[in-house]
Amino acid sequence: MIPHVSIRAFVHSPTASAAVERALADRHLARAQGEILSGGIAAAVAHYRAHVTPDVLIVEVERDVLAELPALAEVCDTRTLVLVIGQTNDVTLYKCVMQLGVSDYLVAPVDAVGVVASLRGLYEDGRQATKGKTYAFIPSKGGAGSSVISHNVAWLMAAREEKPVMLADLDMAFGAASLALDVRTQHKLTDVMQDAAQMDTALLDRLLIARGKHLQLLAPSAALAEAELPAASLRKLVELARDGFRNTVLDLPGAWSPTVKEALLMADDVVVTAQPDLISLRNTRALLDFLVRSRPNDPAPKLVLNQVGQRKRPELAPAAFVEALQFKPTVIVRSDPAVFGKAVNTGQTIPEIAPRSAASRELAKLSRELLGTEGAQKLSRRFSFRRG
Ligand SMILES: Nc1ncnc2c1ncn2[C@@H]1O[C@H](COP(=O)(O)OP(=O)(O)OP(=O)(O)O)[C@@H](O)[C@H]1O
Ligand SMILES: [Mg+2]
Repeated sequence: MIPHVSIRAFVHSPTASAAVERALADRHLARAQGEILSGGIAAAVAHYRAHVTPDVLIVEVERDVLAELPALAEVCDTRTLVLVIGQTNDVTLYKCVMQLGVSDYLVAPVDAVGVVASLRGLYEDGRQATKGKTYAFIPSKGGAGSSVISHNVAWLMAAREEKPVMLADLDMAFGAASLALDVRTQHKLTDVMQDAAQMDTALLDRLLIARGKHLQLLAPSAALAEAELPAASLRKLVELARDGFRNTVLDLPGAWSPTVKEALLMADDVVVTAQPDLISLRNTRALLDFLVRSRPNDPAPKLVLNQVGQRKRPELAPAAFVEALQFKPTVIVRSDPAVFGKAVNTGQTIPEIAPRSAASRELAKLSRELLGTEGAQKLSRRFSFRRG
């Protein structure tokens, strides 16, 4: 089955439109989120000058494919898989197009079977199987704001960047992701996920709850969990997430446990959220040391300095905190009780209620940094699509 990916098709002909539409309804694509737009490759080029390209981009080209592709390469993220529907049935052209990094070339008129087969070819032959990324969020001390930041980043990746995301709230006792995002959960996750051997894609699909088009939430019910989530179950969850989702956000509790440690070791990226005070400084130092020591060949952890400038609360000056830590934060989020309070009370995210706030800006920067889309435009100026 094709994982949770975003697919956009820019077509000209009614035949291609109907073929893609039927393909999107196919059971193999049940988890993918697709949309069909008109205007072919020219419309795609115009649109993606201002937007991040999806996981899969299908473009129909009416005229000379080789003449039209360079403009698309200019705006296309190198991680996007590009499928071209062209008019010319010619082996030399096919080879040229594939050499440019296009993932597949289909000759018009296409049918749904051809589109499905092409997409399955890309995702099911193992080439894409391990591509999903996991981002673990951990507070350096209780209440630092790690959960709220992880929920907002997951939402931003999903809604603004249109990337399918799974958000797993792993605070089995007091997780608040379902409240924060206003969705209903009934599953006692620690019970249903107690035995790693029983966990599979079907179970995960049953437990997920959609919030909007691209965000899927895995969250415990409000009832206090009786048991811990075993480290083996966490491992299995991350494996399933990587197979099914391009992006997974793990909201970890602050309390140290074998499961939390496992999550930090498995994640592709770790985000530590700290407040500028002494205890947080000590804990952040310990966490960063652990992360750098145990993940020597991974990207450096990212630091969020949060709730800066809280009124009536003694704090270290952010500059002094950073100096003492010898570690540069990726983003600094100021304390904004009005905006954060309203978000919690209304079950909405910060960018939904205050899109122009400083917090929204910083959170968007963090989400792009993690997705690797910050500065992607520059990167994609090289003439190369990603190979499937
Ligand atoms: N920048 C901010 N300004 C104002 N309030 C904030 C800010 N960041 C977080 N908060 C608030 O702080 C509280 C704690 O946040 P959150 O639950 O995300 O912390 P946490 O780090 O996950 O802690 P834990 O998981 O240990 O409970 C929440 O009420 C949240 O709305
Ligand atoms: Mg939390």
